[in-house]
This record gives sequence, C-alpha cells and structure tokens, in this order.
Amino acid sequence: MATGKLATKYSSWQKLDELYEAKRPKLVLKDLFAADPERFAKHSLQFKSDNPNVDILLDYSKNLVDDEVLKALFALAREADVEKYRDEMYAGQHINTSEDRAVLHIALRNPPASQGGYTFKEEGANDGVHEVLHHMQQFTEQIRSGEWKGYTGKPINTVVNIGIGGSDLGPVMVSEALKFYSKRDIAMHFVSNIDGTDMAETLRVCDPETTLFIVASKTFTTQETITNAETAKEWFLKSAKDKAAVAKHFVALSTNTAAVTAFGIDEANMFQFWDWVGGRYSLWSAIGLSICISIGYNNFHELLSGAHAMDEHFKNTKLEENLPVILALIGVWYNDFYSAETQALLPYDQYLHKFADYFQQGDMESNGKSVTKDGSRVNYQTGPIIWGQSGTNGQHAFYQLIHQGTKLIPWALAFGKTEEQVIKELGPKASQNSALVKSKIFEGNRPTNSIMFQKLTPGTLGALIAMYEHKIHVQGAIWGINSYDQMGVELGKAILKQLPNEKDVTGHDSSTHRK
Ligand SMILES: *[C@@H]1O[C@H](CO)[C@@H](O)[C@H](O)[C@H]1NC(C)=O
Repeated sequence: MATGKLATKYSSWQKLDELYEAKRPKLVLKDLFAADPERFAKHSLQFKSDNPNVDILLDYSKNLVDDEVLKALFALAREADVEKYRDEMYAGQHINTSEDRAVLHIALRNPPASQGGYTFKEEGANDGVHEVLHHMQQFTEQIRSGEWKGYTGKPINTVVNIGIGGSDLGPVMVSEALKFYSKRDIAMHFVSNIDGTDMAETLRVCDPETTLFIVASKTFTTQETITNAETAKEWFLKSAKDKAAVAKHFVALSTNTAAVTAFGIDEANMFQFWDWVGGRYSLWSAIGLSICISIGYNNFHELLSGAHAMDEHFKNTKLEENLPVILALIGVWYNDFYSAETQALLPYDQYLHKFADYFQQGDMESNGKSVTKDGSRVNYQTGPIIWGQSGTNGQHAFYQLIHQGTKLIPWALAFGKTEEQVIKELGPKASQNSALVKSKIFEGNRPTNSIMFQKLTPGTLGALIAMYEHKIHVQGAIWGINSYDQMGVELGKAILKQLPNEKDVTGHDSSTHRK
C-alpha cells in the first residue's frame, strides 16, 4: 500500500467503497422508508442539553444510507482517530500545525471555571476571555443606553462594522439572524469591500454626529479594512474637523496597539483577541462587538451559551449520537464515495439568509486543502463546494437542477414522484403529453438533512453554528488535513500586495504579469 494514500489507509474506507459499489442501486429513499417504518425515529436526534433555550432536531433519515453504511462510517471515524483529534482541541494542544498554535474558539464561549468551564493553558484563554466580554458588556451598555455621546453630544444611532472575511461574515450573518432581538433604533451596517462604492453608499445614510465605526482587523493592517477605515475617518473629519473627536466615533477590534492609537483610537476602546482565534471562528470574540451592540449583551451571552452547549455535546456524546459527527460522516459519504462536488445549505428561515455565505467561508477555507498535515498530497476529495441561500428564494432559482438535473447535490428535498403518481395527478392530460409527464417526474432520491427548531433564539443559533464548526473539524480529521490554516488565502493576499507597484510583481505567471 502506497504511503500517503489515506483513501486506502483505512480499512473502513475500503469497506465503504465496497458498500457503495454493491448497494448504490438499492439505496433508494422510497424503498428505505418502505422497508423500515421506524426509519425516521431511528435516524433523527433531538439535541439535548442543560440549556433550555437550545432546541434542535436533526432528521438525517432522508439520506442514501442504511445501517450497514452508517456502521462503516462510524468505524471510519474511529479509525481516523476523530475522538482523539477532538480531545486534543479541547486539551488546547497545538492542532493548528502550520504555525504550531492551539485552536480555541471553544474557549470564547466557555463559562468561567467557577461555573464548571474548562481550563486552558493558553494565554488569555481563561480570565482574558471574560475580561474582554466584560469590556464588551460595558461598552455595549453605554452605547445602547445613550450614555456614550458623539462629538456634538448626541447618542449613537448608527453602527458601521468595517472588516473583511471572518471579521465581516460572522457579524453580518448573526446580526441578520437575530434581527428579531435587535435594538431597532440603532441601524447596523457592514462594510467589507475595498471597492469604494461599498463605503460610499453606506456613508450616504450615516450622520457623522451619531455614527460609530468599529474597525475589525487583528493586525490593523488588513488592506481592505484599513483603506475603508481611512475613508470613513476622512469623511468624519470633514464634519468634525477635530482629530480628537475620532476617539468618540471609532473603536478597534485588534491586537496592534501602536497602529490603533496612531489612527486616533483611544487604547481604552481597543478590544483584544488572541492568536488562537482564527478569523472564521471569531464571531464569539471581540469581533462580535457589533452583534453585541445590536442584540444586547444578554442575548450575546445566550448565543455563547448555546455554542457551549454544543461544545459539551460534541465532547461528551458517543459518535453514534453526536450531531456534528453524524453530519460530517454523511457529508464524507457523498463527497468521497458518491463524488458529489457540492453541498447546498438552504435555510427556510429568512432570518438565516446569510447562513450559506457564512459557511461558504467557514467550510471552504477550512477544508479546501489538498495536502495532509504530514505534507503528503491527498488522492481523494476533501472539502465540498458549499453554496445556497434562503430556501424559498432558492426554490425559484435552482431547485429545478437540484431535483431533475444530472448532478447529485446533497441537501435538496428527498421524496420524488413516480411516473404512476404523476399520471394519476395529471389525469386525462397525461396521455396527451408524455413530455409533460416526464418533466413532472422527479427522479427523486435526492438526499437531505433537515434541521428543525421552534424558534431561532440566540441560544439555538449559537448551537447551530457550533454544530457546523465541529462538523468541519471532524471532516478535517478524516481527511487528515489542517482545517485551521488558510495558506491559499495568504497567497492571494501576497499577490494583491504586490499589485500597486507593478514592477514588484514577480514570480507569477504571464497573465498575472500581463505580458
Ligand atoms: C492557524 O494558524 C494560521 C497560520 O498562523 C492562522 O492564520 C490561523 O488563523 C490559525 N487558525 C486558528 C483557528 O487559530
């Protein structure tokens, strides 16, 4: 057996391959349901936790799996040491191997040790987290109560978050998802694109006397973010005319004190975070300040508690009942055996309309890798292409292809109609138009996971996001890749940095050089 061929390293992988070949024609949803009246009961799980505000039901019965396939998938998880890799994350081991760092977004939603939380050895991961949360709480309350005043003595009624990637997508997605809980007299805006129109259009609806800008950049050097922040400052100073006023209207989410104070921001209004927080896992940290202002600290805290409840579930529940593990394994089944290239996220709750955008980054930046942690090239598929939008709109855009196209896209609707059913429904018309009959027949057998909740509370949303984060973690473990770096993104940034000065653009292809 060739080394570095993870696909063949695990005996359960081979077993799954055999099952796929042998069973594929038989794995038909209609038949699977007909054969087992208990299928829904057996293959759905109500998430249970001490947190009464979290409510999630996962129905994974509409997948092209039977007991034998599931058993082999769980065997694969065990063989790939999913549990060990999970425990290493919780133990704060440096599983982010590229720069030898811990991965501790779980620390950001961890209660204090006095309330039963985990203890970490990484700097800032215990008391530091709670100090920053306290800082966020105080600041949020000042803004929301109107105690914080702008340079002419008026309270803040508009917040503009300036960030990109994780410093933008998380805050946008959650603020939209929890709009129901938001303070409606504070308008929230999110500017990310370096294309000047993004900022220009936002500033049109802002009043310099009552607008607060949150500049979110760990290094405070992110090109898009700092350019946009400079534009905002220039616009602001046209009215305020006094550089000292900047401190009343700009705060920073950053670790670079020198650059933050040079910009004119008061060090007291700089919200800290740490190296063990990756951008796409950062909405739980100071990066969530805009969320916190919008929904209030108590709701933000609920969001964290919901995520922590899922962290506990993921850590303590056996694989067969572990929601992130089940989602991950079913994803691997389609991705690696059915060769499904994509996976659609189609939330039917309009509040979740940014959920797919968010996990497009979360999943693809994490698992879009082709080299394993030990440096060998994979010869199997890793992360899927993630796409989607709110379900009802999607219905009018791409459901045709999902239901009747030639591609298998997990996450669509499951039950198809047979030719007989369609003929019956169409009645006499059917015999006149066989093309019509054919087009109405859903080939069906399109696999779906359904995730259901009564109401999208902050706690349920927190648990939902954490569930996907851990799903990504489990898949990374099975594929043997580091889900926590993003060298491809860094590469893109490096090329971008060279662009303003064309003669410095070196070492790329002739198209990049344009010669
Ligand atoms: C992992 O390390 C890389 C490289 O230093 C860093 O960019 C990334 O943010 C880290 N990820 C996490 C989750 O800390």
